[in-house]
Amino acid sequence: MSTDTPLPMLGGLSAAEFLRDHWQRKPLLIRGAFPDFQCPLAPDELAGLACEENIEARLVEERGPKGPWQVSHGPFSDATFARLPERDWTLLVQAVDHYVPEVAALLEHFTFLPRWRLDDVMISYAPPGGSVGPHVDQYDVFLLQGQGTRRWQLGGQVSDEAPILAGIDLRILERFEVEADQDWVLEPGDMLYLPPAWAHHGVSQSDDCLTLSVGFRAPSADEAITSYADYLGEQLPASRRYADAGMAPPADPAELDDAAVARMRQLILDTLDDPAQLAQWFGRVMTQPKYADQLVPTETPTEAEELVTALQEGEQLVRSPGSRFAWRALDETRATLFADGDGVVCALPLARTLASDAPLNAALLAFPEAPALLAALRDAGSLAWTDEFEE
Ligand code: SIN
Ligand code: CO
Repeated sequence: MSTDTPLPMLGGLSAAEFLRDHWQRKPLLIRGAFPDFQCPLAPDELAGLACEENIEARLVEERGPKGPWQVSHGPFSDATFARLPERDWTLLVQAVDHYVPEVAALLEHFTFLPRWRLDDVMISYAPPGGSVGPHVDQYDVFLLQGQGTRRWQLGGQVSDEAPILAGIDLRILERFEVEADQDWVLEPGDMLYLPPAWAHHGVSQSDDCLTLSVGFRAPSADEAITSYADYLGEQLPASRRYADAGMAPPADPAELDDAAVARMRQLILDTLDDPAQLAQWFGRVMTQPKYADQLVPTETPTEAEELVTALQEGEQLVRSPGSRFAWRALDETRATLFADGDGVVCALPLARTLASDAPLNAALLAFPEAPALLAALRDAGSLAWTDEFEE
């Protein structure tokens, strides 16, 4: 599909137009983005997920037993839900795309964005009045109304210094003023795109309000610098260090002079400014799984020969839910395949296939390096056999 094709889910904008005018720049309300949308899961199924171990879930109560805007973390139990009032609370469950294949399938509509920018699909349930308060996120998010209705109000872009309410676990804005014409009630299938740092307030208007948040992450400069420095640090030889051969005698031995600062700056810039190294780090960091403990490594190493036989007999491998793949060309024939925070060099078409949604079957055996690579990905937990996945 061309990037100029008008997309109903973007309100008739093409991907190119959306990216040019809205992405990271300004909100977009899309009525009927998903016509006749059927929410892939019901409120009680969401509550069921929130009761499971290892699933990240939060409950926000505007008037909780322990005070206003009380936040509690899952796993919850039936007793939690039984004690809740009839209104003014919200249940939020992260990464529902990892647990519900029909939710993961929604992501097929978002291929106009790099997959490695995706964070997860969070789903919230709220009875009437339920909200998490007016706030800003540092995420791009598509808020898709799944069931029931939610009123969304926007308050424009907010600076990092905007005051937030003290003494609670949420970052609720002290001041929130709804901008003119930025107040809508969303029905199932309607969607609101919000760029980062845009003040928003979504309040449930019905007793069955389910909202899906397709969130996209971008590392902060703080995280990027720290992480890149750690990555480089592991590879730099001890001999690479501040050097001042040939320097002039210091005017004052206690002075940190300009020449010294310039030498240090150059050491740091030269070390950091290596595009090939940076790409290797970037691919690793952007494919790090959201929940590393959800990847289940094999107990015994997979034998490449057995893997080949299984594929030849018609078995298929699948990407584990929550696994992240990306690739980057090294030259015309070779690429680095990034998988769940690791990188491995292989044939470019093999890397592309593994990082796509294509089936992982015997056709892969056309690549001589496939058996060893697939076995390693299997052992790391990034891939699984179809039947293991269904268990
Ligand atoms: C919600 O679904 O209740 C909150 C989503 C958000 O504001 O980010
Ligand atoms: Co938000």
